[in-house]
Amino acid sequence: MFSPFLQPLVTVLAFSAGTAFSQDAVRPLVSRRVTEYLMPVTAQTHEVARVPGTNFLLLSQMSNSQLVKIELDPATEAPVAYQSFPMGESSQSGLHGVWPSAVQPGMMWLSLQSENKLLLVDPGDELSDSPLIIKTIDVPEPGNGPHSVFEIGNRVWAGLKVASEQTEEYYVFSADIDNPSDTILYPCLHSPVFIQEDPATNFIYVTQDAASAIMRIDTTTGETTQLPIPPSVGNNPVGMITASGPLAGLWFVLAGNSTGGTGSFGRIVSTGELRFFQLKKPNLSNNTALLHLADASTPGNPALWLLSTSLLSPNSPDALIHVKFNEAITDIVGEEYISMPTQNAMVHRVLTMEKTVMVSELNTFSIAQLAYEGAVAGAWKPAGTAEEAVIYDEAS
Ligand SMILES: *[C@@H]1O[C@H](CO)[C@@H](O)[C@H](O)[C@H]1NC(C)=O
Ligand SMILES: *[C@@H]1O[C@H](CO)[C@@H](O)[C@H](O)[C@H]1NC(C)=O
Ligand SMILES: *[C@@H]1O[C@H](CO)[C@@H](O)[C@H](O)[C@H]1NC(C)=O
Repeated sequence: MFSPFLQPLVTVLAFSAGTAFSQDAVRPLVSRRVTEYLMPVTAQTHEVARVPGTNFLLLSQMSNSQLVKIELDPATEAPVAYQSFPMGESSQSGLHGVWPSAVQPGMMWLSLQSENKLLLVDPGDELSDSPLIIKTIDVPEPGNGPHSVFEIGNRVWAGLKVASEQTEEYYVFSADIDNPSDTILYPCLHSPVFIQEDPATNFIYVTQDAASAIMRIDTTTGETTQLPIPPSVGNNPVGMITASGPLAGLWFVLAGNSTGGTGSFGRIVSTGELRFFQLKKPNLSNNTALLHLADASTPGNPALWLLSTSLLSPNSPDALIHVKFNEAITDIVGEEYISMPTQNAMVHRVLTMEKTVMVSELNTFSIAQLAYEGAVAGAWKPAGTAEEAVIYDEAS
């Protein structure tokens, strides 16, 4: 029985429900969310990669040289548990690079920057399995400080971030995987970071951050060429990827400096020419400092994920930006901004999964997962409200 006090209210509700003039259908909810997962507390959390064909991510924590193995829920790709393993001789070994091997499927490359070593490890089938070292490659003098590691064809590559103790120069290192005594050191500028091969020409390209230039290596002749970034566009090239399909070629981003970034990024086309793009959404793109990127293309929709970071300047936001291109890849036709929940996180790397996107947070020992439900990246309607009046029409 309703209390007499509630009765009038119940009558009113029943009346309005009965006379509703345009009842909408029940609809499933559409959402976009970023969830942060806390990792072991340490000063610097760096690179993240998936162990191919498994539900494990490997995350490097450089400041204590720990490798965090993260188990994912196979359906949602959400992290569910982790275990952390020390890598190297001590907490000062400087674990940084993490890269999957294709030559030895299931194995992962790691770099120990302070020990001048690359490791090939078997991460193990269970979360609690300690990574097993399969191969150790020593970086010879005068090389110093392998930072990010890559496998290209039958060779493993690393950018040597630290000035040589013998020559005070910087080098790009490569070694034959089957014959690790076959090593090459290419002198380069301060400081090599990402190394990628252009599949169209087989030239190797290397971003050099502080010198603000890209080095091209012809591995057949050993000849190297410097391609400077025009200062009017921005500076500090870091992240670089090889894309296929409509974006075919190499793409790199510019991380800016202590005053902020310019929201600029570029493409290396097969002629070797650098083509630049700049984010243009008013206010949201201000000072974006792009450190890393990933291919976000879906059939018929060429797109990139760009990661803006506060690592170099507190003026720059920590944000993931989805950028859509026109068919000819000459112009940006859509920008969706997703602020990371924790600013000053100094986000470091972005990794696309099958359904979701992961971001490592250097300063806040976290990994963030972006997930859409009932929507896809680049088509999030509220992202268009700044310019598209049509959104208001639909919402009214
Ligand atoms: C930082 O980068 C901007 C944009 O390229 C440039 O104008 C400025 O001179 C740079 N500042 C420093 C301190 O290098
Ligand atoms: C962003 O930059 C534009 C163009 O320089 C400027 O007009 C605007 O005020 C800036 N917005 C913010 C929030 O700083
Ligand atoms: C950008 O920011 C400025 C300063 O806060 C503001 O006046 C302007 O209306 C903003 N522009 C857009 C397109 O939101």
